[in-house]
Amino acid sequence: MAKFQTPRGTFDILPEDHVYYSYLKKVCRHRFRQSGFRRISTPIFEDSEVFRQGLGDTTDIISKETYDLQDKKGRNLTLKPEGTAGVVRAYLEHNMDSLPKPTLLYYLEPHFRYDRPQRGRFRQFHQFGIEAIGESDPSIDAQVIYILHKILTDLTIRDRFALQINTLGNKEDRKEYREALLSYYIGKERNLCDDCRERLKKNPLRLLDCKNEDCQILASLAPKFEDYLSDESKQHYQDVKDFLDELGIEYQENAQLVRGLDYYTHTVFEFWDKTEGAQNAIGGGGRYDGLVEMFGGNPTPAIGWAIGVERVINHMKEAGIKVQNKNHLEVFIAGLGKVAKQKCLKLLADLHDRGVQSIGALGKPSMKDQLRQADRFGTPFAVIIGEIEVKEGTAILRDMATGEQEVVPYEDLVDVIIECVGEDNLDTADFLVK
Ligand code: HAM
Repeated sequence: MAKFQTPRGTFDILPEDHVYYSYLKKVCRHRFRQSGFRRISTPIFEDSEVFRQGLGDTTDIISKETYDLQDKKGRNLTLKPEGTAGVVRAYLEHNMDSLPKPTLLYYLEPHFRYDRPQRGRFRQFHQFGIEAIGESDPSIDAQVIYILHKILTDLTIRDRFALQINTLGNKEDRKEYREALLSYYIGKERNLCDDCRERLKKNPLRLLDCKNEDCQILASLAPKFEDYLSDESKQHYQDVKDFLDELGIEYQENAQLVRGLDYYTHTVFEFWDKTEGAQNAIGGGGRYDGLVEMFGGNPTPAIGWAIGVERVINHMKEAGIKVQNKNHLEVFIAGLGKVAKQKCLKLLADLHDRGVQSIGALGKPSMKDQLRQADRFGTPFAVIIGEIEVKEGTAILRDMATGEQEVVPYEDLVDVIIECVGEDNLDTADFLVK
């Protein structure tokens, strides 16, 4: 029994899973780059106020789910539960408001929420996300949604999701609607769940997406947001829908979709698992036109989204998607005696330089043991250098599948091996700066 285990709600990403992470990263970065997004990384922790003010202290995330710590100087810090607030903080800190607009940023980061661990819900998880800051036009909303739609298409899992969209209007619309909801719920409090009674005091909009059956019935009869939207907000929403239609993106309008963060305005959206609905949304986002100003900047519209990487990977696995990877060892080098080992080490270095993925453990006492090891690593080829080969300046090249062997002059080995392995299977470093 191991003495230690991962903390509750966290997990190790083992090599076989990293294959999926790498692939997903590649697919996302390709689409992000194509559309002009550039990568940003913010610290794992921020001043707690960044999240408290950014996300709203009545939200579930801030009231229940943050990992808070104090450093040795008594500063209050919070492990980031999401990416947007940190990106907006960085946007202002580095005067990115002087860059051409919209400023297009993406991130691939771990995040932390003290959630109740269950399937698809972890305490440390990863998000890939984008933020487009500085443009209010509804065509940006459609473009941003399109990128996520496209990534899910690239991954061949788009059919597993239904895009839900809604509008939360602007600040004034929401204020009026809030009043209307408060009047509607007066006298109905005892029919609400405990959470909703609390939400009523702090954030009545959240009552609309409660999963409790009684709360849902009451929510379905509540005043409708659309009756409180200004003409400008209605037009923005209509334009977004028209643009989505133009791009051939199917969506479901969902008046109950309010999202769990206070910064949203106008368009909000989520990609729902078709079988599980809101429970395990794969990703979501929306406009947050007030956040930059709230953080001390000029009024600046913005929109973005994030996907939960673990949830995406889970869908890929469920859909039986096999991901290509470059982890294929081709050659195992076996050598006996010190001089042979010296030759083996040199050979390994030469093979690596030419891009042949190869290993030599060289620690086992007998040749039989070394070849058994080669078998376990599953390399198609093994090179054997014993005392005789050292004397003769040769090596034995063995095809592990057939057991066939040939004696090859030591100086020809690398070329002969590359011929056997095939140029296509080489892992060369063409990307290095020359
Ligand atoms: P969010 O909906 O809170 O949005 O999170 C985005 C995605 O992260 C979720 O749809 C889900 O897939 C994943 N996720 C959230 N919590 C967990 C968890 N505990 N375990 C595993 N996966 C999880 C945001 O975070 C916004 N910042 C998105 C955004 C960007 N809005 C505007 N710009």
